[in-house]
Amino acid sequence: MRVYFDNAATTPLDPEVLKEMYKVMENHYGNPSSIHAHGREARTLIERARKTIAGLLHTSPAEIFFTSSGTEADNTAIRCGIVDHNITHAITSPIEHHAVLHTLEAMEKSGVIKLSFVNVDSKGNVDYDHLETLLKNNERSFVSIMHANNEIGTLSDMIRIGDLCEAYNAIYHCDTVQTMGHYQHDLSKLKAHFLVCAGHKLHGPKGVGFLHVNHRIKIKPFIYGGAQERNMRGGTENIYGIVGMAKALELAYAEMEQHRKHIQDLKTYMMGKLTDQIPGVSFNGETDPEKSLYTVLNVAFPEMEMGDMLLFNLDIAGISASGGSACSSGTDIGSHVLTAIGASSSKPSVRFSFSKYSTKEEVDYVVAKVRELCPVNA
Ligand SMILES: Cc1ncc(COP(=O)(O)O)c(C=O)c1O
Repeated sequence: MRVYFDNAATTPLDPEVLKEMYKVMENHYGNPSSIHAHGREARTLIERARKTIAGLLHTSPAEIFFTSSGTEADNTAIRCGIVDHNITHAITSPIEHHAVLHTLEAMEKSGVIKLSFVNVDSKGNVDYDHLETLLKNNERSFVSIMHANNEIGTLSDMIRIGDLCEAYNAIYHCDTVQTMGHYQHDLSKLKAHFLVCAGHKLHGPKGVGFLHVNHRIKIKPFIYGGAQERNMRGGTENIYGIVGMAKALELAYAEMEQHRKHIQDLKTYMMGKLTDQIPGVSFNGETDPEKSLYTVLNVAFPEMEMGDMLLFNLDIAGISASGGSACSSGTDIGSHVLTAIGASSSKPSVRFSFSKYSTKEEVDYVVAKVRELCPVNA
């Protein structure tokens, strides 16, 4: 058996998405910037995708800008949101994805901003009083706080942060890469200025994403070049990627509640089985379903010899999972998220992340294998 429990890193393509993309690849090779019929066909596909996405999110197509990734969307929001509005102070959390943290840290290093970190508790929850203090004690701030943490799943309260940012006239960027297509984002109500999406986290293609720029804020391009994306992002568009991402979002919205229930049930089931069968097991981050991303379960296993080999041994046993964020796997640097919440470094932590394709049989298999690898059986 081969189990893929690394869906927070990326998800398999939905066959329906592949079908749509294939049609585009086969039939629509025109450059969307060309004014002839081939170009116009390609342009129509892009604008249709934009309209689909905007409709699902209750916003206007004019607020959606296609990018090459979630990382590019984050970079655009942060760099342009700060520079174009002469912001000199930014607030973020220590558990953001590197797409956010490294961008802000680079800007601080080059003297563009002063950077403050809002406190988070031992489960990764934002300290909202501290956020308010930081907002109050500084000139107009740029706030970048993610919706769901990709390693431990803890959710932030976008309404509360939006209200605070509004009260202190701050610009609010929310990294929604892990929650787009998993939660209903009604952009007509949210107060965030920038939200982001990566197609590959919701059974869409890799190498495509979008940035939502609320009409209340204006920015200049991040990538200069041609007139694509209404002069906001140069570069010939990834047409099949864009079409695939829109289809993926459409499918995600069509069956969101069924998938959410299915996946949350699996997560709860796996937590129960692990707790019953592995003495000393615990979970990193929030586990309350109201405060935790249902696709992510971060498990802290009891201390064991060769704990750092656990992921490798799981892989040998046919299980693909991740230690912390998959975006940094392959390096031997520990997880900055687990460090920030004060998780024990002697306990090996594994992130299991599920999708609509995950099954109870797979959970049973994984728990059985994990049990074999844990010291209780020694
Ligand atoms: C929270 C978060 N933000 C940003 C990204 C980056 O997205 P992409 O892989 O499309 O660059 C990821 C990817 O893991 C993520 O989990």
